[in-house]
Amino acid sequence: MTQAAVRAHTNIALIKYWGKRDEALFLPTNSSLSLTLEKLYTDTLVRFDDSLSQDHFILNGQPQAEKETQKISRFLDRFRKEAGITTFAHVESINHVPTAAGLASSASAFAALAGAANIASGLNLDLKTLSTYARQGSGSATRSIYGGFVEWNKGTSSDDSCAIPVDDADWDIGMLVVAVNRSEKKISSRVGMKQTIETSPYYPSWVETAETDIQAIKEAIKERNFERMGEIAEHSAMKMHASMLAAQPPIIYFEPASMKAIQIAHQLRDQGIPCYVTMDAGPNVKVLCRLSQAEQIKNAFKEHFSEEQLMITGPGQGIRQLTNEEYRA
Ligand code: ADP
Ligand code: DP6
Ligand code: CO
Repeated sequence: MTQAAVRAHTNIALIKYWGKRDEALFLPTNSSLSLTLEKLYTDTLVRFDDSLSQDHFILNGQPQAEKETQKISRFLDRFRKEAGITTFAHVESINHVPTAAGLASSASAFAALAGAANIASGLNLDLKTLSTYARQGSGSATRSIYGGFVEWNKGTSSDDSCAIPVDDADWDIGMLVVAVNRSEKKISSRVGMKQTIETSPYYPSWVETAETDIQAIKEAIKERNFERMGEIAEHSAMKMHASMLAAQPPIIYFEPASMKAIQIAHQLRDQGIPCYVTMDAGPNVKVLCRLSQAEQIKNAFKEHFSEEQLMITGPGQGIRQLTNEEYRA
């Protein structure tokens, strides 16, 4: 098959990935763990086409400039090399997630692209190996290959720095996404983490505690101890942001409305409703909660946020191939 379309869902890290020990290979300084989300995803179609004299990349209906297309070309080169393909590709993608706004578009993007290239090239790599390919487009994409709770084991080399499914999250787990601001961030994750490693005196503490957090959260998930899981996740996000705040110049993704959202979640918690916040490289806040309580939590947020800013989602599944009809729909 020379053409394939694949859907990949975004994931939100509960134990964050923040920093590379090898930038070229996208090897992280610490292992991370995430929840794949049902409602936010990317659909990507790849076609290797003899008639093309260069790669084409269309995102949300817009032909992309050379810089963006080059990222795609470099990513596809790995598949072309392995599969012995010399033709160029037509790539089109639709984000059902805001692009570059801290809602992990790069995670669903490169997992979908890897999935589509895997089938279109005829390589048909297994999912674990495919996750090491996705990783080399964007680190967080490693985890979007699978659904539910997923670990990205930092590994010892490019071959074993891969995703491992941990739990299908089929036990009353949800997230309320509070879209504080959907516009593109000024500092990308890639630049932000590099600047933190290079200048933040708190970065070594981040690395030290991340490994303990991974072990602890895996235990909490195994025991289905929601409160413990939430506490560890919130702590991981705050530690990551603390390391960024201590960078020079500081990296500040918080906006006033982000603080408001955190406050509301904490008030709800004081009232006995378990909910925990996490934030990525952007101002948007994600509230980890019981799916069965998500509506109630959303209602509390409605006092300060509009309906359009609030989205409830359950756990999502791993990558899957789309039929032509599904892709066009
Ligand atoms: P985010 O928080 O959305 O993950 P990042 O800065 O990590 O933000 O990544 C955004 C980048 O990911 C975009 O600038 C673009 O290069 C890439 N990207 C986003 N969506 C797609 C897509 N559907 N296909 C290919 N690349 C994409
Ligand atoms: C804060 O995966 O977007 O969302 O590997 O450079 O593409 P690159 O960065 P990216 O970083 C994600 C950082 C994060 C935390 C996380 O998703 O684990
Ligand atoms: Co990203």
